[in-house]
Amino acid sequence: MEHREKRTLILRINSEKPEIEKIRIAAEVIRKGGLVAFPTETVYGLGADALNELAVKKIYLAKNRPFDNPTIVHVAERSEVYKLAKKVPEIAEELMNYFWPGPLTLVLEASEIVPRVTRGGLETVAIRMPRHKVALELIKQSRTPIAAPSANLAGRPSPTSAEHVIRDLHGKIDVILDAGSTVLGLESTVLDLTSEIPQILRPGSVSYEDLKRVIGKVEVHPAVLAKRELEFKARSPGMKHRHYAPNAEMVVVEGETEAMVEKVKEIAMNFSEQGKKVGILATDETLDRYPKKWVVKSLGTREDLGSVAKNLFKLLRELENEVDVIIAEGFPEKGVGLAIMNRLRKASNYNVVVAEKSVKN
Ligand code: TXA
Ligand code: MG
Repeated sequence: MEHREKRTLILRINSEKPEIEKIRIAAEVIRKGGLVAFPTETVYGLGADALNELAVKKIYLAKNRPFDNPTIVHVAERSEVYKLAKKVPEIAEELMNYFWPGPLTLVLEASEIVPRVTRGGLETVAIRMPRHKVALELIKQSRTPIAAPSANLAGRPSPTSAEHVIRDLHGKIDVILDAGSTVLGLESTVLDLTSEIPQILRPGSVSYEDLKRVIGKVEVHPAVLAKRELEFKARSPGMKHRHYAPNAEMVVVEGETEAMVEKVKEIAMNFSEQGKKVGILATDETLDRYPKKWVVKSLGTREDLGSVAKNLFKLLRELENEVDVIIAEGFPEKGVGLAIMNRLRKASNYNVVVAEKSVKN
């Protein structure tokens, strides 16, 4: 069959006061079973009518996503949750009260109205209410929940701006709503509420500590903490697929700051000697420690890991075009640091080096 490119309509839209006529155009596309990329507070999503099997199938084809990796269903009203889920436990209501709209996705038992393709063949459905006016208006005007994975080609870093979406999906989707850069920069926390103790399947800006404070008991899936790609039973099919990979070799260096900086320099030197172009993902605090012969960029400040989360995917996409190898500094796994390290490990395909504390005499 002839491969025909689609015409992709790009609409700039105001993130605070979305122009209603633009929302209407996009909503009409969703209603007709088309694909719309839209901003959320985390990353851009690639949306289709969650209840329309054929429409959701198009998402997988456009992204080249394996069909066993389920999508997140986005809602604008709490009442939708009771239609999509068979049971809504009390703890889910508590979490919705506390964190919605926001970057927390809840995995619940799916009702019959959720097509198999939307839930990747599982008996559960992942649901979230995004904290973004464009996303919420789009869902409302579409009058249906919207299934949306991140709007990148499968395996690539998630898109935090419309430019990233254009690079991956232009010509494959119907509309891109461009509202500038996203605020948080990392995908939502995915929390499974179907296990006995709520379990974090993917860490995000709603942290383990935040969740513990609200619901008391919460576990982190072992895969999230895995230092290597271990043989574990992947609860979230997303866990077993290669993720966030830049088109460059990548190394992550963990450890106490001083030892880490020295290790990054040592590794960078080795690659330089092999004739490879080196890029370093540093921080405001360490930026000056690296010679300018390397491409050095700051992710943000160690004082505010939110800034690091926001810039991570953007800088991975920038550096992959400029260098052969990316060396990234590591972070403490507290708060959003857990999500940052999870993405860095995966992006590097678990190519992690632990810097030993240097012995001072
Ligand atoms: O912030 C976000 O969550 C963004 C924006 C667009 O909302 N979306 C996003 O979607 O990151 P995606 O498809 O890239 O990631 C969804 C993750 C995957 O790891 C998937 O395996 C998991 O959620 N997931 C979806 N449904 C699930 C289910 N029923 N059970 C377990 N994991 C599920
Ligand atoms: Mg994704």
